[in-house]
Amino acid sequence: MNKRITAAITGVTGYVPDYILTNDELATMVDTNDEWITSRTGIKERHILKGEDKGSSHLAIPAVKELLEKTNTNAEEVDLIICATVTPDFTFPATANLIADGVGAKNAFGYDVNAACSGFIYSVSTGARYIESGRYKKVIVVGADKMSSIIDYTDRTTCIIFGDGAGAIMLEPNTEGLGILDDMHFSDGSGWIHLHQKAGGSRKPPSHESVDAREHFVFQEGREVFKFAVKNMADISYDIMKKNELAPEDVAFLVPHQANKRIIDATANRMGLPLEKVMITIQKYGNTTSGTIPLCLRDYESQLKKGDNIILSAFGGGFTWGAIYVKWAYNP
Ligand code: UT7
Repeated sequence: MNKRITAAITGVTGYVPDYILTNDELATMVDTNDEWITSRTGIKERHILKGEDKGSSHLAIPAVKELLEKTNTNAEEVDLIICATVTPDFTFPATANLIADGVGAKNAFGYDVNAACSGFIYSVSTGARYIESGRYKKVIVVGADKMSSIIDYTDRTTCIIFGDGAGAIMLEPNTEGLGILDDMHFSDGSGWIHLHQKAGGSRKPPSHESVDAREHFVFQEGREVFKFAVKNMADISYDIMKKNELAPEDVAFLVPHQANKRIIDATANRMGLPLEKVMITIQKYGNTTSGTIPLCLRDYESQLKKGDNIILSAFGGGFTWGAIYVKWAYNP
């Protein structure tokens, strides 16, 4: 009898640019201070991609190149690249196509997924379905965002939160019951009003007026978003545990989107997990949108063992939110 094919994560890498923007430097740009940022968000510093003519693909390509090396994969073997991003290099073509070209993945097709901070987990679920179908063998999912390209560094309520970064995973077929075992995703488009970029899309194409009004930057009503994020990320993380009959002691790690340390704490609390079981990188990278979850996996990879149960969860603009149950497929 054929065994069920699951999509196993067989490698993870990440990339952050060199330049570090500290809370102290931000305090020279807007009316803020290290104490406020640290106590309200948990963030100490974030990385920023500097230089002309550089987009999210320049964050993703180093991560994907390293992933190919690490998993001993020839670029031409890759079937598909899915790139989660809200800061594509261009409105079109897709950043995934630029990444495929940059790494020499000549036989891959690719496209972008735009689901804001849930983009990476939505993309993992999408990629997993291709593997589970049995038709595709090597799918790369990359989350990459150059958030500094859409952040207003005169707005203290948003510029302190975001950073630039990318992370990538390889998905391959597994018949030992390892990999992506369950996912639950939701969205509520009425939430757009609280978190969006006002101009630059088809509703309000770029104009001199829209640039003067600083409408090409992230607009966020932080307090409103916070309320939705806390509730939905905590609930979905708890719900996927319950659905899969996982007790807190069965879970090795929660891998939460890194938007605010207080949202992460509330999620862990709802799941009954101590903070030692929570991957936290927000202090050094801030919120890299699509990059947060793979960067967590990259930084904690050495602590993961084959068979570990981990829960990925996110909440973001849209609103979008979801969670994925993964059985880790390899030892460090
Ligand atoms: O990743 C995608 C989804 N996004 C999120 O999940 C973000 C969710 N929201 C948040 O993380 C938080 O709402 C923020 C970090 C954005 C803001 O924190 P907050 O605790 O909700 O602050 P607040 O907006 O309620 O503002 C409290 C006070 C205000 O002053 P008043 O009105 O009380 O006098 C703000 O003007 O803090 C002030 N404030 C600041 N003060 C110093 C806002 N930003 C700053 C700042 N430095 N950077």
